[in-house]
Amino acid sequence: MKLRIAVIPGDGIGKEVVAEGLKVLKKLEELSRVSFEFKEYPFGAEHYLKTGETLPDWAIEEFKKFDAIYFGAIGDPRVKPGILERGILLKMRFELDLYVNLRPVKLYHPRLTPLKGKNKIDIVFVRENTEGLYAGAGGFLRKGTPQEIAVQEMINTRFGVERVIRFAFEYAKRSGRKKVTLVDKANVLTYAHDLWERVFAEVSQEYDLETDHYYVDAMAMKMIRSPESFDVVVTPNMFGDILTDLGAEIVGGLGIAASGNINPETTGMFEPVHGSAPDIAGKRIANPLAAILSASMMLEYLNLEKESKWIEEAVKRAIAENKVTPDMNGNLKTYEVGDWVVKFLEVV
Ligand code: NAI
Ligand code: MG
Repeated sequence: MKLRIAVIPGDGIGKEVVAEGLKVLKKLEELSRVSFEFKEYPFGAEHYLKTGETLPDWAIEEFKKFDAIYFGAIGDPRVKPGILERGILLKMRFELDLYVNLRPVKLYHPRLTPLKGKNKIDIVFVRENTEGLYAGAGGFLRKGTPQEIAVQEMINTRFGVERVIRFAFEYAKRSGRKKVTLVDKANVLTYAHDLWERVFAEVSQEYDLETDHYYVDAMAMKMIRSPESFDVVVTPNMFGDILTDLGAEIVGGLGIAASGNINPETTGMFEPVHGSAPDIAGKRIANPLAAILSASMMLEYLNLEKESKWIEEAVKRAIAENKVTPDMNGNLKTYEVGDWVVKFLEVV
């Protein structure tokens, strides 16, 4: 079976880490029956500065024909913040309707967490990815005056809330997980999150899974105090954005945080959570594990569970043997970590 993957390395370390992810996927082709056809796209800051183009509509149409999209990172100090995020990343999320942002928070080795005495953290965040405060609804009144008003609307549709909550329950069931936790702020957001709570209660009736609920502020505390108590967590767009950064930090940092932007019916886009890191770009010290684990998530999404696990095991071993970059207290270069993961792939 040939799988077609669109590849967007993007800017800065995006290019460096995607190269390592592709190296691992190509090794997998040698070791298993999987085969890939990669097509690379140049979108990102460089391309924008040269052509004025962010992500053209024809590319969106083309992406729809791929099995998945593998993305590095975008961003460049020369481009005004927002142009690339809205023009490329959010455009993909919205126009491909990638309504689930799947972000695992998994501790691969006890030495990676700053939390004392914790050795088991294995949470999967299901973040709503197309609505909430990030839907882009709102505007200015009296802009530029001392009386200026800026309004940012929080969009919650029954359809959008239900499909992401349903995804969380389906995901939990399919992956043998036991509990789904809803995180919201219904005590203050009495309309928007009331809808979330009602839909969550309703959908949970259809599943034989434990459920649980936290307000987002209490959740931030609880994730530090007892992260082991969470399994699958479903939450609105902005809370998911923030809590998963916190999550990344308790399991080893941005260098290892992987993610998927998914629409189960159409396609998925897989990317490390981190950005283009201009401060370390070109130094060959970027941690490629987040990008490699994102490739592993992509394979899981494509129903290649065994191959996905292989990559994860190889990453685990690289961490256990300290074959890692400086951000994880190692002394290897980006491509050396990739080489070790490839080597460990041969023996798992
Ligand atoms: P960033 O994630 O690029 O970097 C934050 C800090 O973490 C930096 O000190 C960086 O060196 C470090 N870091 C990040 N990834 C690392 C890795 N793999 N290995 C080792 N260290 C790593 O976030 P920042 O600095 O806020 O943004 C830089 C640019 O990236 C901006 O233009 C921003 O808009 C863009 N960005 C893009 C994202 C995306 O493409 N999905 C996500 C976040 C930011
Ligand atoms: Mg973020």
